[in-house]
Amino acid sequence: MKTKTRVLAAAAMALLVTLSAAAMTATEAIEQRKKQMEGVRDGILVLSAIAKKEQPFDADVVRSNAEKIAGHLEEAAKLFPEGSDTGDAETAAKPEIWADRENFDKIMASSHQAAVELQSVTEQSAFPGALGKLGNTCKSCHDLYKTAQQ
Ligand code: HEC
Repeated sequence: MKTKTRVLAAAAMALLVTLSAAAMTATEAIEQRKKQMEGVRDGILVLSAIAKKEQPFDADVVRSNAEKIAGHLEEAAKLFPEGSDTGDAETAAKPEIWADRENFDKIMASSHQAAVELQSVTEQSAFPGALGKLGNTCKSCHDLYKTAQQ
C-alpha cells in the first residue's frame, strides 16, 4: 500500500511537471525564439556593413558571424513548438507555421544551410552572392510566416 501510494504520488508529480512545462513552453518559446532571431539579426548587420563596404571584407569576420547566425537559427528552429502561436508574450509568428510545418522547417533548414555555406567564403567576390542567398531565406520565411511589424 505504501509503495502504491508512493508510485501514485510520483506519477502525479510527473504529470504536474509535464503540465507546468507545457504551460511555460508557449511563452518561453516565444521569448527565446525572439532572442535567437535577434542574434541572427546582429550577425546579419555586421555582414551587411561589409556588403555595403562600410566595413572592409575580412574572411574571419564573415566566418564567425555566419557561424553565429547558423547557431542561432539552429536554436530558433527548436523554439516553435505546437501551441506557441500565442502566449503571454507578443509574437509575430503566424498560425500558418503549424498548419504548414513541413514547408516552414524546409525554409529554416535552407536558411541554416546558406549560413553554413557562407562560413567557407574566403573570396570577397563570392561574398555578396552568398550573403544574398542567406538573406533570401530570411525573406521567404518572414513573408509567409511572420506578421509585418510597424
Ligand atoms: C523558417 C523561418 C524563418 C527564417 C529562415 C528566419 N526567420 Fe526570422 N523570424 C521568423 C519568425 C516566425 C519570427 C517571429 C517570431 C515571434 O515573434 O515569435 C521571426 C522573427 C525575426 C526577428 C524579430 C525578433 C524579435 O525580437 O521580435 C528578426 C530580427 C529576424 N527574425 C531576423 C531574421 C534574419 C536576419 C533571418 C535570416 C538570416 C531570419 N530571421 C530567418 C521566422 C524565420
